[in-house]
Amino acid sequence: MTSGGSGVKERLIVALDLADPEKARSLATLLAPEVGMFKVGKQLFVNAGPDIVRMIHDLGGEVFLDLKFHDIPNTVAAAAVEAARLGVKLFNVHASGGREMMRQTAAAVEEACAAESLRRPAVLGVTVLTSLDGADLEAQGIQGDVPAHVVRLARMTRETGLAGVVCSAQEVRDIRRACGDAFLLVTPGIRPAGQQAGDQKRVMTPGDAVRAGIDYIVVGRPITGADDPPAAARSGMADVRLGTHGRSHHRRITGRHPSRQDGHPDG
Ligand code: C5P
Repeated sequence: MTSGGSGVKERLIVALDLADPEKARSLATLLAPEVGMFKVGKQLFVNAGPDIVRMIHDLGGEVFLDLKFHDIPNTVAAAAVEAARLGVKLFNVHASGGREMMRQTAAAVEEACAAESLRRPAVLGVTVLTSLDGADLEAQGIQGDVPAHVVRLARMTRETGLAGVVCSAQEVRDIRRACGDAFLLVTPGIRPAGQQAGDQKRVMTPGDAVRAGIDYIVVGRPITGADDPPAAARSGMADVRLGTHGRSHHRRITGRHPSRQDGHPDG
């Protein structure tokens, strides 16, 4: 990604973790001049439906649809096509849903986008939820530690043709090494310098996250719960820019990134 224009603006994704569509609408309207992408999760989507995605698009924002699909391949692939038809830029599936689920999803999205001239969304895999630890994996019969399983699932995600993964800041180095530079990394648990981590166990500042090689950072409460959300977003964005400029190896996103497939410059 380059460091200017909408590319940088989209690198900060604000999580609209609210149930009330009206509140989400007001917040998105307030933040749209500063923020290029919003995350819509299960709570808001179940309550507000696809209209919330259309509303964000009408404001000029992009959407990361965070519904973490996990089902039989046919069902996930069909839901994925609907996400593509909605025009979201990013959405995700659980990598633990398996290779066939991810393969069929990638293929169905590609086919629908080609047939219907849709912009192709970037599909992300969710590896191991940060709420799970080694004991949880062991209880599921999965051998080895969490970081090893995260990398295994990330590699599998890449091999099945998906664009990237959602990961924690601590996993970035290992995943980059295993999956290469073109693989998209999207990371929550971001806190501005000097702010309390709250219930997030491992946090990073926006600038450090970008310097570490993360493509998109997800920030919720530090912006949505701030007294002045646009000011908090501006400050997060300034930190992202600093991180982009300070990045030791300037990387360009290639391959499956939707904005590039579209022929739009990413920055
Ligand atoms: O408010 P906060 O910045 O902690 O919000 C982070 C967002 O990222 C929330 O929507 C949360 O559900 C999501 N998330 C996370 N940790 C993960 C996966 C997703 O915080 N491991």
